[in-house]
Amino acid sequence: MWRDLAPIGRSAESGGYRRYAWTGADADCRAWFKAQAEARGLAYELDRNGNQWAWLGDPAAGDAIVTGSHLDSVPDGGAFDGPLGVVSSFAALDELRRRGLTGLSRPIAVVNFGDEEGARFGLACVGSRLTAGQLTPAKARQLRDADGVTLPQAMERAGYDPDAIGPDPERLARIGAFVELHVEQGRALADTPHPVGVASAIWPHGRWRFDFRGEANHAGTTRIDDRRDPMLTYAHTVLAARQKAELTGALATFGKVNVDPGGVNAIASLVSGWLDSRAPDEGTLSTVVTAIERAAIEHGEGEGVAVQVTQESFTPVVEFAHGLRDRLAARLGGVPVLPTGAGHDAGILSARIPTAMLYVRNPTGVSHSPAEFAGEDDCVAGVTALADVLEDLACQ
Ligand code: GLV
Ligand code: MN
Ligand code: MN
Repeated sequence: MWRDLAPIGRSAESGGYRRYAWTGADADCRAWFKAQAEARGLAYELDRNGNQWAWLGDPAAGDAIVTGSHLDSVPDGGAFDGPLGVVSSFAALDELRRRGLTGLSRPIAVVNFGDEEGARFGLACVGSRLTAGQLTPAKARQLRDADGVTLPQAMERAGYDPDAIGPDPERLARIGAFVELHVEQGRALADTPHPVGVASAIWPHGRWRFDFRGEANHAGTTRIDDRRDPMLTYAHTVLAARQKAELTGALATFGKVNVDPGGVNAIASLVSGWLDSRAPDEGTLSTVVTAIERAAIEHGEGEGVAVQVTQESFTPVVEFAHGLRDRLAARLGGVPVLPTGAGHDAGILSARIPTAMLYVRNPTGVSHSPAEFAGEDDCVAGVTALADVLEDLACQ
């Protein structure tokens, strides 16, 4: 499976993956998923929001155990964030079949949720948010990529029906539990003897766009005192974000910036920077974002730069279902139970159905980068753990 996936959407320069929603690379990943389902004789379904499903057992039977993850990536992402969950899910089904799979009392499905990273349209987990009713079709239709292509246009060009998108309560009603396996994205398991952990919670997190408006002017003739340079206020805000995060125990990152018009010899008229912020609790998150916003506005006032802040997404704290979490931990015996700052489709679905996650050790502790890694033995341990969990849940 890895051999087939490896070249899809891989940048020759960086070695990272650029698998953005509704692009050619995304289509190739989707074709791979469908082929994997068909090769195993699983019933393939494409839902109204473009999520893919592969069913072992009757999809209509209800109380299904669903596993899976996503196949899209961040810009220059690693090989494992998302695909490890999907590959491991198919491999876990193979393992269950190898074990003889006696007494399957509930159907099992593998899912590939569309557009988890939000790399193209700015909003993460679009497929699961639409399904769970956390993103309205009207809002989704307004999403645009950097070239101005709307989500419906992108879906249509990829051969999907954008008029069909929307909540899918009937599908959710068929699911008894969702278990997502994912590469661990920090150092939480790296320095432990454990290849596999279980999730306890996801930190609340969100994305905010900061627009800094100044005045375009000549870089060689405009006196320092006459400048209204939005880049200065942006730079100050980046430093403030780091400082406020350190003070509060939160995380705050400006990882994307646009400069208009972007001339080397011109003072910019507009700088837009995207803040990603996360914290252990919603109070801390709100405190840190408010403090960064205040620092930006105060600096802008001194420089003649107007600052406007728009919240583009917010995901509340996720506390995974204790019963399911404890059952997984008991089945796997003595594994670490960990919170994470990373967002997941499992977090979105947890508001609607019992949901749990397994993490596989990442020795580099790096993610959202080509340096993300998981060793083969740890990946196999992940598959075995997932198979154990699926067997426990589906073969009672
Ligand atoms: C998704 O990977 C996120 O946490 O941003
Ligand atoms: Mn990710
Ligand atoms: Mn992921």
